[in-house]
Amino acid sequence: MLKFAQPTMDEATIQGVVEVLRSNWLASGPKVTEFEAALSASFGSRPTRVVTSATAAIEIALQVCGIGPGDEVITSSQSFFSAMNMIVKVGATPVFVDCDLDTRFIDLAQVEAAITPHTKAILPTYFPGALGDISALHALARRHRLRVIEDAALVQGSYWQGQPIGSFGDIATFSFHPNKNMTTIEGGAIVVADEDQARLVEVLRFHGIERLPDGTRDVSVAAGKFNMSDVSAVIGLHQLRQLPALLAHRAELAACYFQHLPALPGLRLPPHGTPQQSWNMFNVLISYEQFGHTRPSFRAALQEMGIGTGMSYEACHLTSVGKQYGYHEGQFPNTERIARETVTLPLHAAMTPTDVQHVCTAVGHVLRPA
Ligand SMILES: Cc1ncc(COP(=O)(O)O)c(C=O)c1O
Repeated sequence: MLKFAQPTMDEATIQGVVEVLRSNWLASGPKVTEFEAALSASFGSRPTRVVTSATAAIEIALQVCGIGPGDEVITSSQSFFSAMNMIVKVGATPVFVDCDLDTRFIDLAQVEAAITPHTKAILPTYFPGALGDISALHALARRHRLRVIEDAALVQGSYWQGQPIGSFGDIATFSFHPNKNMTTIEGGAIVVADEDQARLVEVLRFHGIERLPDGTRDVSVAAGKFNMSDVSAVIGLHQLRQLPALLAHRAELAACYFQHLPALPGLRLPPHGTPQQSWNMFNVLISYEQFGHTRPSFRAALQEMGIGTGMSYEACHLTSVGKQYGYHEGQFPNTERIARETVTLPLHAAMTPTDVQHVCTAVGHVLRPA
């Protein structure tokens, strides 16, 4: 069975985990510090802290920006649920806008139109393959004095105009879930602009605790517990070293998809990756009815041929939580079309180009015109 996503673990990583387990230091310790330093170096030396997931990183990012009740955060409905949920969790209001059909980048004209006196931040999501105009997004935010929290969960290793995502801007968050470009089992990172914000992240990820000069502890804010273990951090250190090779392999597989997927009206491929874009997923849009299929029947047909698929993403504004804010069907045509038509084909570093060709042949077989 070809899974649509899976992590790659080498023996050195497994050995590294064994060493940490034998060291008797399992929770946050020297490996976390080392991992944060290595990550920071990959993000242009910006202060970087690790947490237990990208979702935790987004929650903390919102808190670092002081966002809470009465505030609005503009975000793309075409995203994973984390951004919406964390905006709601800190007591703010998610304000959804549509995205570009190909790049899935947040629609900047709609962002500008959605700004009100209550708007505090823009929270865009980046999608693998091609990025939108990130410079224009930051310029817009600067004009309106808004914070920007980049949900970069899927695009670690992507570059915008020669600079790695995370190495510029305001705040960026990353995911190390096993389906991502690199993993720590579960985990995430938050990259901030200065050491003061990094210190606040440290407080917010660990009970709100601050150490007082007399050695006792105060709790300055009622915070949760999101610190990463050294076991996860050592996996991250090994994965980070392998990341360039893993990304190059993914890019080769994506190129193979472009070469071998059949050119069919009704099958929409992602935009050809702009140079230096990472490929976490390979998502296509399919007009299933044109081929006598529904999405479930298409996915079942591939499943029968030993090919797993995924779906990214549903429309956030049409979830039960989204609808509580008055959103309804018909508001964001691109997001809603993606939600109806998207399917994620297998793409991970354990695959070979022959695996990709096998998937392409299978897709062509299943999508014979009805
Ligand atoms: C765009 C995006 N943001 C955030 C997340 C959440 O990541 P995590 O599972 O590390 O919380 C995901 C997970 O798939 C994602 O796709």
